Amino acid sequence: MHRGPLQAGEWIRLTDQKGRRHNFELVPGKRFFSNRGHVEHDELIGREEGFTVVSSAGGEYLCFRPLLSEFVVSMPRGAAVVYPKDAAQIVALADIFPGAHVVEAGVGSGALTCSLLRAVGPYGRVSSYERREEFADVARKNVTQFFGAPAGETHPAWQLTLGDLAEALPASGERCDRIILDMLAPWECLDAAADALWPGGIVCAYVATTTQLSRFVETVRVHGGFTEPQAWESLVRDWHVEGLAVRPGHKMIGHTAFLVTARRLAPGERPPRKSRRPAPGAYGPDYTGPRPAGVPVEVPED
Ligand SMILES: C[S@@+](CC[C@H](N)C(=O)[O-])C[C@H]1O[C@@H](n2cnc3c(N)ncnc32)[C@H](O)[C@@H]1O
Repeated sequence: MHRGPLQAGEWIRLTDQKGRRHNFELVPGKRFFSNRGHVEHDELIGREEGFTVVSSAGGEYLCFRPLLSEFVVSMPRGAAVVYPKDAAQIVALADIFPGAHVVEAGVGSGALTCSLLRAVGPYGRVSSYERREEFADVARKNVTQFFGAPAGETHPAWQLTLGDLAEALPASGERCDRIILDMLAPWECLDAAADALWPGGIVCAYVATTTQLSRFVETVRVHGGFTEPQAWESLVRDWHVEGLAVRPGHKMIGHTAFLVTARRLAPGERPPRKSRRPAPGAYGPDYTGPRPAGVPVEVPED
């Protein structure tokens, strides 16, 4: 579906002279309308992508199949999506490999699911859990549309389960190599994730706020069955490059979310004791979150 002449039923993207994008499904006999007249779908079907088509009123449109990174930011959304820059980080730093068995929750709109399915390849498996049926329906449509499964089917490496991960994953008996948590309270799913992960596996959480970041990291420490969690964010800045005007773009996405990863230890194992003490005040009387073992409440000096 991602190569060769454009076929009826595929989604394409027309980009106009101002950079405005229009995505639609190719249907024989249909017309695409814009403020510059129309384009017949039949003019597009059968051509190799990467051409300029002229509408009935002289507008020029560049025609390509949408890339995954373009599709996920324009597809219908139930819940907020994982942006392409973060999906790329998740695939690289949560080490999603061809053949891996990956569990994710929640599925939301299915944006991350598409990246995970691509990364695990035909011999891997992505098992997605979502507790809201209406979001699961949106995700199913988006994933099926992107991968172009036959009517009534979906991606063969994908399984979507309706339910709360904290209950549905233990009930399924699934074991996995990687677990990606994109939800409001990922700490509530940590026990289920720990039980399902093979030793050496990775849990990765995607959280929007610093309070969620803190609570998840401290819960991982308190659990004790994981390595020291790593937390980071990525900022991507476009550049304007034109003759001598070479400068950063004026606009950027300032914040999407923080990422945290930790590796599952073998059963009964504990991480080495830390040789470094917590920063002064880190777990002082104002700290109310989960408290790692052996860290007493610090009494402030007068
Ligand atoms: C931000 S969205 C996920 C977006 C998704 N990763 C994407 O890229 O499109 C969060 C989703 O998690 C679901 N959710 C929250 N807690 C959950 C849980 N414990 N088990 C399953 N789904 C959960 C919510 O219903 C929501 O759809």
